Amino acid sequence: MKTVTVSAPGKLMLLGEHAVVYDRPCLVTAVGQRMRATVSLIGPKEFQLEAADVSVTGYSKPMTELVDGEIPKGAKFVEVAIKNFNEKFPLTKGVRVETTSEFSSKLGFGSSSASTVCVIKALSELTGNKLDNKEIFELAYKTVLDIQGKGSGFDVAAAIYGGTLYFVTGGKVIEPLDIKELSLVVGYSGVKADTVTLMNQVTELAKKNPDLVEGIYNQIQKLVEKAKIELISKNWTELGKLMTKNQGLLKKLGVSTGKLDAMIDVACKAGAYGAKLSGAGGGDCMIALVPEDNKIGKIQKNIQAVGGEVINIQTNVQGARIEN
Ligand code: PMV
Repeated sequence: MKTVTVSAPGKLMLLGEHAVVYDRPCLVTAVGQRMRATVSLIGPKEFQLEAADVSVTGYSKPMTELVDGEIPKGAKFVEVAIKNFNEKFPLTKGVRVETTSEFSSKLGFGSSSASTVCVIKALSELTGNKLDNKEIFELAYKTVLDIQGKGSGFDVAAAIYGGTLYFVTGGKVIEPLDIKELSLVVGYSGVKADTVTLMNQVTELAKKNPDLVEGIYNQIQKLVEKAKIELISKNWTELGKLMTKNQGLLKKLGVSTGKLDAMIDVACKAGAYGAKLSGAGGGDCMIALVPEDNKIGKIQKNIQAVGGEVINIQTNVQGARIEN
C-alpha cells in the first residue's frame, strides 16, 4: 500500500478580507499550527475517511459514488477534492485519508482549505502526477468554489505556498513577500463564524447600497497596497495604523462584533501597533500587531480580561510539505 503524509499550515488574513472576493488584493500569513493528512491508495475502490477532529470516523463509500447523497460537514472538502482530482487524473484504486489537526477547526484558521491542499498534494505524489503549486492551487480552489459558491482562494494559497503573501482574487497574483518577522497576538472571540453567511451578508449590503460597498472595497484596496510596502520595510507603526483603519472599514461592512471590537480596543490601548478582526468576521479571531517586547504580556492579559482566548501561533511558516 502506497502512503504519503502531507502537512499544511493554517492562515490568518492580515488585511483585505471581503474586498479580496471582488478582484482586490489581500495580505495573508501562514500560521503554525498545521493540518496533516495521511493518504493511501488502497485495493478496494472505496473512499475511506478518518477525521476525528471534525467528528468523522469510519466514513466510507464507493469511489463511483463520490459527492452523491448527504455528506457529513467534516468530510465535504476532502471528498470533493478527491472527486476533482479523480476527474482530472482518473484513479485506478481507492483512497484512504486520515486527517489530524494541531489547531481546532473552530478558530477559523482555514482547516478545510488546508486539508484540501494536503489531500491533493498527497494524491499528486502518490499517482506520480507531480502537480506544481499553481496546479494544486487550481484544483483546491475549484474544490472551495464547488462547496462555497464563492471565495477568493487566499486560504488555499497560504496553505500551499506558506510564508506571507500578497494575493489577488482567484490566484491572479500570488506573490510571496520577503519578510522574516511578523509578531502577532491572536485573540479568539469564542464564536465560530460561518464564512459563507458573512460573505452573503456583505453581498446583500452591496445589493442595497452598491456605491457604499464599492467605495469601501476601493479604500481597503488602497490600505492593502500601502500595507504591503510597510510590511516589507518593517515599518510596524505604519502597518499597525493601516490595520486599525482596515478594521474601521470592516465595521462599516457590518462584519465586526462587540466582542471583537472590545478585544481590538484593549489590545491597542495596551500598546499594540494596530489590531483588527481576521477573516470573515462575525466571530473567529482578532489579530494585534505587537512590538516584540514586554508589552505582549499586557496585551494578552487585556484580551483575556474582556473574555478573549489568546491563541499562541507562529506566523510566516512553511507551506505544504511531504512529511515522510
Ligand atoms: O472566514 P475566513 O477566515 O475563511 O476568511 C474569509 C475571508 C473572506 O475574504 C471573507 C472570504 C475569502 O474567501 O476571501
